[in-house]
Amino acid sequence: MNFLEERILKDGVVKEGNVLKVDSFLNHQMDINLFDQMGEEFKKRFAGKKINKILTIEASGIGIACIVARHFNVPVVFAKKSKSINIDGETYVAQVESFTHKCVNQVLVSKRFLSPEDNILIIDDFLANGCALRGLISIIENAGATVSGIGIAIEKGFQRGGKEIREAGYQLESLAIVEEMDAKNGTVTFR
Ligand code: G4P
Ligand code: NA
Ligand code: NA
Repeated sequence: MNFLEERILKDGVVKEGNVLKVDSFLNHQMDINLFDQMGEEFKKRFAGKKINKILTIEASGIGIACIVARHFNVPVVFAKKSKSINIDGETYVAQVESFTHKCVNQVLVSKRFLSPEDNILIIDDFLANGCALRGLISIIENAGATVSGIGIAIEKGFQRGGKEIREAGYQLESLAIVEEMDAKNGTVTFR
C-alpha cells in the first residue's frame, strides 16, 4: 500500500452513494506534506516526459497542482467553471457534465495561456466518470498543444473514466485506485 492509500484508510470516510469523503486532508483542509509526496511520486512516474505546464480545474485541483508544480518547476493554469456562455473567441471552452452535481458547466481557459508548443501535465484530485478530464483534454487539443500525461490523486476504478482515458492512449497515473467502497462497514478496497 502506498502513502495515499494508507491515508485514505486512516482518514477517509465512505458515504452512501459511492462517495469518498477526504475533506480532512485533500478537499477542504489540505495536507501540504501529503501533496508534496504526490508531487515527488508524479515526478518519478512522468520522468522523461516533456512537461512545461500543468493544467488543472477549479476548485479542488488547484492546491494539489500548485504543490506538484514545484517538483516540475513549471507554471499552473487552472480551467475556470462558468454557467454562462462565453463566445468571445478569446477562450477555449468545453462542456463538462457533473453526475455528482447533476448540472452542466462550461470550462474555460484563456487562449493566452495555451499554445501549440505546450506539453501539458493534467493534474486533478478525483477521477470518476472522467467528464472534467475529457473537457481538459479537448481544450488542450483544440489549442494544438500536447497532453504529456495525466496525474490523479484518487481514481474511482468502478466508474468508467479511467478505463476510457487509458484506452484512448493517454498515460494516466492515479496514486490510489479505489476498486470498491462499502458505506455500511466503512471499508475501502484498492486495485
Ligand atoms: P467526473 O468529472 O469524473 O465525471 O466526476 P463527477 O462529475 O462524477 O464528479 C463531480 C465532482 O465530484 C468533481 O468535483 C469530482 O472531483 C468530485 N467527486 C467525484 N467523486 C467523488 C468522491 O467520491 N469523493 C469526493 N470527495 N469528490 C468526488 P467538482 O465538484 O467538479 O469540483 P470541485 O470544485 O470540488 O473541485
Ligand atoms: Na476536482
Ligand atoms: Na472535487
